Amino acid sequence: MKITEQIKQPIAYEMELFEQKFRLSMASKVALLNRITHYIVNRKGKQMRPMFVFLVAKMLNNGEVSERTYRGASVIELIHTATLVHDDVVDDSNRRRGFFSINALWKNKIAVLIGDYLLSKGLLLSIDNNDFDLLKIISVAVREMSEGELLQIEKARQLDITEDVYYDIIRQKTATLIAACCSLGAASVKPNSDEVETMRRFGELIGMAFQIKDDLFDYGEEKIGKPTGIDIKEQKMTLPLIYVLNNCSKKEKSWLINSVKNHNKDKTRVKEVIAFVKSQGGLDYAVLKMKKFQQEALSLLSKYSESPYKASLELMVNYVIDRKK
Ligand code: IPE
Ligand code: IPE
Ligand code: MG
Ligand code: MG
Repeated sequence: MKITEQIKQPIAYEMELFEQKFRLSMASKVALLNRITHYIVNRKGKQMRPMFVFLVAKMLNNGEVSERTYRGASVIELIHTATLVHDDVVDDSNRRRGFFSINALWKNKIAVLIGDYLLSKGLLLSIDNNDFDLLKIISVAVREMSEGELLQIEKARQLDITEDVYYDIIRQKTATLIAACCSLGAASVKPNSDEVETMRRFGELIGMAFQIKDDLFDYGEEKIGKPTGIDIKEQKMTLPLIYVLNNCSKKEKSWLINSVKNHNKDKTRVKEVIAFVKSQGGLDYAVLKMKKFQQEALSLLSKYSESPYKASLELMVNYVIDRKK
């Protein structure tokens, strides 16, 4: 059995029902909107965020979820989808999930509005059902994601980003949403319990490992359903490059900075930078850090008693760093 099937086994029923609910949550009376949201739901991603929501909820509540859990999972996936649609505008990327991105097909104007629509549908799903505690968790994540994306742009312009700033960026832009999945999963069944904070921290650690993995993909040539090699083109400094910048000679550093600043659209030059980062152990270093976050996340699970849900969460933590897309 594939690892993803194995992970989903204890939440197979919930994931199936979730998919139906998620589809319905996007419906609109505007024909153009419906056409585009159909395009989106028919190209679904890995759905890791709803999986975290259900696995955490079931682990903490003897295998039971509630309607709140389903709504929370839908809201998070709606918001995740909205941020991807916007992200491809921001990153000027034409592919997502193995197909054309929304901006590639319908242009930026429409992509911006679709992202806003999905965000509002998510927020309303919580509001209409008085899930205000869940809405709070989600809104904090949305704010942090926007701040993280802006911090990333600000630092990209300075080109002298430190490892700590990189961690701040990925914590905000990516880890907070996965943290929200896990704390929301807990809050949906055990509101006001200590588990809400423990699970938030668990999700945050996984989220850090998750984004380091995503940044490593950019240095590879594997088919992952979205472009690779675009981070340097977009002057996005990620961990492998940051490590090498801080651990090479002055001359090499100037060459790297000059490449990213003035030759970032030159394909041959970008390839040289990538090769240099690899040769200097930049990828190995990022892998090391990624595994540290993964191990820390796993250790937070040790206090829970064994169950199929906990076992799946453990598999999921490993999947985050072993995944092929
Ligand atoms: C992509 O997230 C955006 C990042 C935070 C790196 P996923 O890799 O979970 O995207 P899908 O939903 O599976 O396409
Ligand atoms: C992750 O950013 C997306 C958000 C958190 C909004 P990236 O730009 O690094 O993600 P991909 O690689 O395009 O999915
Ligand atoms: Mg981006
Ligand atoms: Mg992107």
